[in-house]
Amino acid sequence: MTQVIAIDGPSASGKSTVAKAVAKRLGFFYVDSGSIYRGITWHALENEVDIHDADAVIQNTRSADWVFRAEQNVAVFSINGYTPTDELRTARLSEAVSDVASMPKVRAFVNDRLRELTGLGSLTIDGRDIGSVVFPDTPYKFYLDADPAERAQRRYRELVETGEAEKAQEVLESLKRRDAKDSSREEAPLKVADGAYVINSTSMTIDEVVQAVIDKVEGDLR
Ligand code: CDP
Repeated sequence: MTQVIAIDGPSASGKSTVAKAVAKRLGFFYVDSGSIYRGITWHALENEVDIHDADAVIQNTRSADWVFRAEQNVAVFSINGYTPTDELRTARLSEAVSDVASMPKVRAFVNDRLRELTGLGSLTIDGRDIGSVVFPDTPYKFYLDADPAERAQRRYRELVETGEAEKAQEVLESLKRRDAKDSSREEAPLKVADGAYVINSTSMTIDEVVQAVIDKVEGDLR
């Protein structure tokens, strides 16, 4: 049977690294739901669509050709034949994405794509509402958290590696703004899903978090 492991939590809590590693160890496909919100935002900015105009954003999204495919054990997508990668992580896009992700029709579009992806096989998906809204019936729900200062440090180190020269303080402020928007929006706000297993990773290594998730999933499967 197809299984879904939902890993939700705030920005830079380690979700994507953990979800990717868990997927690899269990032979599941990894899906980064945030990258789809980022892809929608990127495509809107590329076409100079007003990202505060929900009708224009959804129309721009729906009229594009989205193709999802598996590359190794990761689900990736192209928009009109192009697969954006680094473009999705710029500071400008990170500032805009939470506004786009608050639009109900955008969320419905993403949720449909995520549910279709179960056609690939079992999935590990990271996001904000995967356990609460998209796959509420999955028994495997995790909420990954870490202190804001630690999360800002982690994101800062990632950005330095990719050559994005934002100041550490700006990274912290930007994360806080996005967390506030994601937690306070009306539609599918970031919250701990019913029955989710909460892991605070502030003083844990990635391997320890991955092991904690796998132990819980395997314990439940037994
Ligand atoms: O990597 P990071 O944690 O910074 O963010 P992300 O997972 O790439 O998600 C980017 C943005 O997409 C979030 O700040 C949310 O506004 C939105 N998002 C969402 O609303 N629901 C999801 N399931 C995933 C992301």
